[in-house]
Amino acid sequence: MKLLITAGPTREALDPVRYLSNRSSGKMGYALAQAAVDAGHEVTLVSGPVSIPEPAGVKVLRVESAQQMHDAVRDRISNVDAAIFAAAVADYRPVQAAAQKLKKSEPHLTLQLERTPDILGSAREVFHFGGLLVGFAAETENLIDYARSKLERKQCDLIVANDVSDKRIGFDSDQNAVTLITRDGRTTELAAASKAEIARQILLVVEQLAAKG
Ligand code: CTP
Repeated sequence: MKLLITAGPTREALDPVRYLSNRSSGKMGYALAQAAVDAGHEVTLVSGPVSIPEPAGVKVLRVESAQQMHDAVRDRISNVDAAIFAAAVADYRPVQAAAQKLKKSEPHLTLQLERTPDILGSAREVFHFGGLLVGFAAETENLIDYARSKLERKQCDLIVANDVSDKRIGFDSDQNAVTLITRDGRTTELAAASKAEIARQILLVVEQLAAKG
């Protein structure tokens, strides 16, 4: 199969030296890319800024902002069989990035933010992607309900849901524990394990779903 995977955080510029971002390490997306090449798939990884090594045998496209990640996905998604959106894309960005470094003056500063493009939400409706679509849902409450509604709204085949309020797992950890939710409403819990192991199990489900068509 040909796979497109997004990974890592995005950075939304405030000025030439500052940005808004999040704590995503990129480890889950990179582990998925590694598991997929190991299983013989052809992988393109669209990666936000991370400090982990690139998996051998994977074509890596480095981006910074949500807009750049969106454009990279838009330009490539029609060539793949499955797309896995593991990136923690910033939902908002400064309305305007200042051309020069912001100088401090007043005691308070108010930032005006606007929505970034929803890349996963664009896959079906804007990019007309007909392949297998996998989204991630990082939640702190109502994990299964929120993840199910995300699967419906964004027309995914599979949602990988994780509870980011659990300190043992998640963003910067080498471990993860997730619940997989498919269109038929079935949920499968993957108990805490290394991100490499979780990635292999997610990939097995992706392969099974792809085989069903
Ligand atoms: N995602 C994306 N582009 C964005 C935001 C999110 O592609 N601008 C993808 C992530 O990679 C992940 C999923 O969408 O696969 C997570 O969506 P999220 O933003 O958490 O879901 P929403 O339901 O849109 O938002 P919220 O939970 O904030 O209501």
